[in-house]
Amino acid sequence: MTLEIIGTGKCLPKAAINNQFLETVVDTSDEWISSRTGIHKRHLASKETTASMAVEAAKQAIENANINAEDIELIITATISPDYAFPSTACMVQQAVGAVNAVSMDLSAACSGFIFAINTAYAYIRAGIYKTALLIGTETLSRHIDWADRSTCVLFGDGAGAAVVKSSKRGLIGLEQGSDGQKGMVLNCRYPEVSNPLNQRVAVPGYVQMEGQEVFKFAVKKVPECIDALLEKEHMTHADISWYLLHQANIRIIQSIAKRLREPLEKFPSNLEQYGNTSAASIPILLDEVHRSGQIKKGDKLIMAGFGGGLTWGACLLEWTID
Ligand code: COA
Repeated sequence: MTLEIIGTGKCLPKAAINNQFLETVVDTSDEWISSRTGIHKRHLASKETTASMAVEAAKQAIENANINAEDIELIITATISPDYAFPSTACMVQQAVGAVNAVSMDLSAACSGFIFAINTAYAYIRAGIYKTALLIGTETLSRHIDWADRSTCVLFGDGAGAAVVKSSKRGLIGLEQGSDGQKGMVLNCRYPEVSNPLNQRVAVPGYVQMEGQEVFKFAVKKVPECIDALLEKEHMTHADISWYLLHQANIRIIQSIAKRLREPLEKFPSNLEQYGNTSAASIPILLDEVHRSGQIKKGDKLIMAGFGGGLTWGACLLEWTID
């Protein structure tokens, strides 16, 4: 038994800012941002929250899957920007969609989060514990950005994506994933330090901090290695793969990965120009778009691959089973 994806959904905040707007916020230029990242605009939450976007994406995915919310046995929400420490975002989604029979939990693996969520659901489904799961990537990273830091504030956006998966004979073929805590600090975001009666400090919020070039080098090395290891394990080659849905961080990272894999860029759909880097939400948002536009056809093999904070990385290889 494996899992298949049977429905998808997404939600982006209504409001967006383009690179020209950012020129009024920090010392940057549309030319710098576009040429270094490929990003032209990003949606930012105002009324929306991490949970409200997750709920909207989940509702769409449930409708698209044509199931009842009561059929869902597991909800995993990948996020590093929850609205509450607890309840988990997954429990908030459970309540809002009426998934009364689900066990619900959040998963923290930064931009690899959605891939780790699929791979975790796969383990539960293969073990025969659950049959139907709702998987979500949702972020309001804009809450963790220092809007005076031009090296990070131009990169990220808010949004959510979701998929319903169920046990099946065809679908997910294999997976590969890993982490390297030793390099964790090259991309980090700290909570305020502990302040209590024994240790009184001013609770200063932490912001996303990044050694951009280190992250870039990590991504363009690790992702092709991970994809090739996965293909080798499954006795497949690049020729078997129709689509690569990569985490949408930077167009130069995607171009470089395509080049290292010796694969045409046309196999790498991308939407980061409009949304920026939405962390755990980027892959399910892209998945929803290529599914609803009819770009992916039944029988196509696709690889989804994420990379990011932790450091973490992961990929899964699937056969698309929706008509
Ligand atoms: N606008 C204008 N100039 C900027 C800028 C901005 N938004 N951000 C940084 N700069 C400046 C720097 O201050 C530096 O100036 P200096 O040479 O005078 O010191 C110069 O641009 C080059 O900075 P550098 O950091 O070396 O640029 P880069 O070519 O490495 O590009 C990134 C920066 C962030 C685009 C690139 O490193 C990257 O994409 N890294 C991966 C980031 C990522 O995807 N993270 C998330 C992964 S999940």
